[in-house]
Amino acid sequence: MNVPPVPPLIDLHSHVLPAFDDGAADLEEALATLEDLEADGVVSVCATPHLRASAIADPEVWARVDRAWDTLVAGGRERLRSLSLYRGCEILLDDLITDFSRPALRLGESRSVLVEFVAFTILPESPALLKTLVDAGVRPVLAHVERYLGYRGRYEVVEQWRRAGVVIQVNSGSLFGEYGDLALRQATVFLERGWVDFLASDTHARPGRSPSIRSAYDALVESGAREQAELLLSVNPRRILEDRPMVVVPPVVRRRGLAERLLEWLRACQWRIA
Ligand SMILES: [Fe+2]
Repeated sequence: MNVPPVPPLIDLHSHVLPAFDDGAADLEEALATLEDLEADGVVSVCATPHLRASAIADPEVWARVDRAWDTLVAGGRERLRSLSLYRGCEILLDDLITDFSRPALRLGESRSVLVEFVAFTILPESPALLKTLVDAGVRPVLAHVERYLGYRGRYEVVEQWRRAGVVIQVNSGSLFGEYGDLALRQATVFLERGWVDFLASDTHARPGRSPSIRSAYDALVESGAREQAELLLSVNPRRILEDRPMVVVPPVVRRRGLAERLLEWLRACQWRIA
């Protein structure tokens, strides 16, 4: 039987700027993480350091970001074979921000911006808040939606975000329980409802310690969701960089339950699950 090749995987959410945030501690850790991704078939990575919206006008912050970026690029030139690095940020929405003219705020200089809410909390005004970003001319990508705590089983707000023009990102590690049972369950619900636009690693540069996005690709294929795996990990991330509309990802059909199947598959592979 012919097995289709793994498509070029793209990771748009990673904390690999050396010694900048709670990601890579130094250049060595950053490059080791990127080499792992490259070995897994990842062709493009967007570095998305944590930034507070309230600090985005601070030139000292940008001096630090730029220095860390330059260090990473110089180191990568020596060590990385063909991986393309893109700039971006993960913006904590602790303040209203409408000026996204600085290219490094956007993913690969596209019109998409990666954002997260404060303290993993969903405020009632979240759809309106995200709509202000859309009205400012950017495409908000809401990071790791499965990790928020405020749904209380009512997920309709995700549809409101999507209707407002928000792109929905889930962390690949959530499919493996890396962030606990609730995140795994919520990631499963969103995949089953076809609400997830793409997956990303959100790696904090702990080489060998987190399931990579390749693990997520393989697990989805193993679960019978090859089409979704390609859309979530290759096609749609590419379309973010190209400023093209997202392709609708069909619901990942529950057989015995995606979560159970993923865990079964991982156990079969003797993956260590925390
Ligand atoms: Fe992140």
